[in-house]
Amino acid sequence: MQVTHVGSEVFPFSRSGGLGDVLGALPAVEASLGAEVCVVSPWYAGLSAKPKEIWRGHLREVGWDNPEVWVGEIVEGGVRYLFIGLSEFERAGLYHPDDVWRFSLFGKAVIPVLRLLGIRPDVLHGHDWQAGLVVAHAHLSGWRTVFTIHNLQYQGRWNLTEARHWTGLPEWAFGPDTLEFHGDLSLMKGGLVFADRVTTVSPTYAREITTPQYGEGLEGLMVRLTLEGRLSGIINGLDQERWNPRHDPEIQPYSDPEGKAGAIAALRQEFGLDSAPILATVSRLADQKGMDILIEALPELVEKWNVVVLGGGDPLLTAALIGWAQHPRVAFSQGMNEPLSHRIYAGADAFAMPSRFEPCGLSQMISMRYGTLPVVRETGGLVDTVPSDVGFRFAGTTPADLVAACDVAYDTLGQPEQWQERMQKAMQLDFSWQGPAQQYLKLYEGLGRRG
Ligand code: ADP
Ligand code: GLC
Repeated sequence: MQVTHVGSEVFPFSRSGGLGDVLGALPAVEASLGAEVCVVSPWYAGLSAKPKEIWRGHLREVGWDNPEVWVGEIVEGGVRYLFIGLSEFERAGLYHPDDVWRFSLFGKAVIPVLRLLGIRPDVLHGHDWQAGLVVAHAHLSGWRTVFTIHNLQYQGRWNLTEARHWTGLPEWAFGPDTLEFHGDLSLMKGGLVFADRVTTVSPTYAREITTPQYGEGLEGLMVRLTLEGRLSGIINGLDQERWNPRHDPEIQPYSDPEGKAGAIAALRQEFGLDSAPILATVSRLADQKGMDILIEALPELVEKWNVVVLGGGDPLLTAALIGWAQHPRVAFSQGMNEPLSHRIYAGADAFAMPSRFEPCGLSQMISMRYGTLPVVRETGGLVDTVPSDVGFRFAGTTPADLVAACDVAYDTLGQPEQWQERMQKAMQLDFSWQGPAQQYLKLYEGLGRRG
């Protein structure tokens, strides 16, 4: 079985969140299960890896001006990572306001590049809107395709009149049943409409997106895909080696709840916190994550907890957290910080995820692995991964709902035996990629191999 994944970020080369983590982990597990796997993503300026250049030339499929394209390769863990270099991606940072244009160019480059390299996979597996156009082109080339929704909120939309010319697709592909969406071009729909199978990253989110509350205006299409048996949910796994308190080089390693006390003390010291328990979060600061709910709950939370936040994103939420960091019980660290994230996962008592929606979520799984008990809103992957006898679940989206769940956690902390029992269970949960990777391979097999 030959599989080619396509997506906009791949850990450890490029990453802004969970998508990068998934593309950095799933392909290697598929390879370990016998598949021949390749991952294609853009090359962004400033990445520290050093891929080997294996091709450079002009591709007329990408644009009328016949732009120069180069291809870099890194082979690691049994997986062939291919990076496509285009001049539009030679800027710092992963994402920019003109991404629909940029990923249209990328979307047109992928298949010609694979052809040049003699790669013709049994299945092309695209991830999120940035790969939507690649899936459309693969389908029109007669390839079998799978498209995974990691987040339906981001759809890659742009004025259709302008953007249709960027895609290289035939005229009939811009109707309401194809790539048009409320007068815009939607690259996400390229994946949803043309893929043989659509998956999303948890069974609960697969159900939720068939409803107006979570469907982002695409619920009608989601219902149709479900009825046709083309939409399903496969839960994400975790790279359990990268996230392992037993030998994590970023912390003083530990293997049981007792050992965790040292990590908590270290985090307390690092941020100058008092003896109150620590409630933390590591998150994009975005509406999805309910960080405004957390901020609004702070006046009540700080009565019982120290609150530690690591994250970046929305400027208003950032400003509010910078203000709150003056409070002796609030610590805020801005931006991406991988080593600090390990110290927080290990050093907090509880982990807050008041997400408005959460396709899967990796942070709650990471925190449980470190014996940090999650307080989560009951949505998407949080329902599927946080057992109610381990974490603390709540249904509403108000600050009061979050505070009430944190109060239950706080009271449980006051009963050390109960808390330890939950921690023990949390640290023993299995979030390995084996099961999910097998489900993907089965899905690919179900599409049949190419002749
Ligand atoms: P999403 O992909 O929606 O942002 P996930 O929970 O799936 O959410 O994945 C988020 C990943 O990104 C986790 O591995 C988390 O630790 C990491 N992450 C988020 N924000 C930061 C940050 N500021 N610094 C370091 N890691 C972060
Ligand atoms: C998205 C979702 C998150 C999921 C991640 C990886 O970023 O917001 O819930 O875990 O993709 O699939």
